[in-house]
Amino acid sequence: MLRLPGLIDIHVHLREPGATHKEDWDSGTASALAGGVTMVLAMPNTKPPIFDAETFAACLQSASAKARCDYAQYVGAGPGNAAAAAALAPQAAALKMYLDMTFGQLRLDDMALWMPHFAQYPAEYPIVAHSESRSMAAAILFAALYDRPVHIAHISLREEVLLIKAARQRGIPVTCEVCPHHLFLSQDGALAGYGNGEPLTGGRQEVRPRLATITDVQALWENLDMIDCFATDHAPHTLAEKDSSNPPPGFPGLETALPLLLTAVHDGRLTLDQVVEKYHTNPRRIFHLPEQPETWVEVDETARYELRAGEMHSRCGWTPFEGWPVRGRIRKVVLRGKDAFADGIVTAPPGYGKNVRG
Ligand code: NCD
Ligand code: ZN
Repeated sequence: MLRLPGLIDIHVHLREPGATHKEDWDSGTASALAGGVTMVLAMPNTKPPIFDAETFAACLQSASAKARCDYAQYVGAGPGNAAAAAALAPQAAALKMYLDMTFGQLRLDDMALWMPHFAQYPAEYPIVAHSESRSMAAAILFAALYDRPVHIAHISLREEVLLIKAARQRGIPVTCEVCPHHLFLSQDGALAGYGNGEPLTGGRQEVRPRLATITDVQALWENLDMIDCFATDHAPHTLAEKDSSNPPPGFPGLETALPLLLTAVHDGRLTLDQVVEKYHTNPRRIFHLPEQPETWVEVDETARYELRAGEMHSRCGWTPFEGWPVRGRIRKVVLRGKDAFADGIVTAPPGYGKNVRG
């Protein structure tokens, strides 16, 4: 039996308030525990978005009643809330800025709107930017101009990882994450040697950033040492929504990330140390997250099975990895000294989760 530290997922969408038919603090944190994740950082693109003291407090009230694993909540950057967001910094996971195509209403196109956030959000916490390609270059310029840490969410392109490498060589304080779906899926299907042979079709392929080319996917694997964190961007939408004529972008990911990564470890693409570094150690360091005492994940490394949405805890009811053969089954999760997940059942009750910025 392999023992890992509790995983920390810095990018999850829990949909509460506003879209609890997709997920809520209860189902989303159950999904986390079933995936070996003991701490989640929740994104602010809810309905309403979390962008001031009032929406923040209301969201945390649901979290405190319903979360099964530990958590912190992001505050979102809007056109006129730089002071309110900065005031929330000590209680927030970090500031999230949507600078590109996304789901929800938090997008900031005009760079003049970025300035007050960069000027005011305390530099001991990162600003997390959803920015792609040239808007990512702009976010890195802002990190340099304001000399403060910026964390780039879900990189997917070769040009992005190469630019991040160049920026870091110049000492610009930029970090980044990659999602499993951008490592194992391209716009032309699964990475060679993975998957069930069935390509994703229609709305089920929709995710932001979009699935990239196989050249991009290979560049991410080749430059893994430049990528600080694994994060799922767990973005649940129901299957009916995904198969509708207007499919929202997003993939669930909390219950598939670790088995996919452990399969890659088995295949020699990655080491176990890199999994721990990018899915625990670096997230803790970059976001200044506390240690979770007596917290670990037990994995049967030898178990071989197929991923099945029917066995998962997310409310969305599907996975882009349905039927994929994987290795490594999570047997048990212990969170702060108590069994939180064992043999397929989430045992931590709603409300057990703690706000790590509380
Ligand atoms: C996310 C969502 O559904 O909230 N969708 C996605 O495709 N990643 C929004 C986002 O992270 O941009
Ligand atoms: Zn996201």
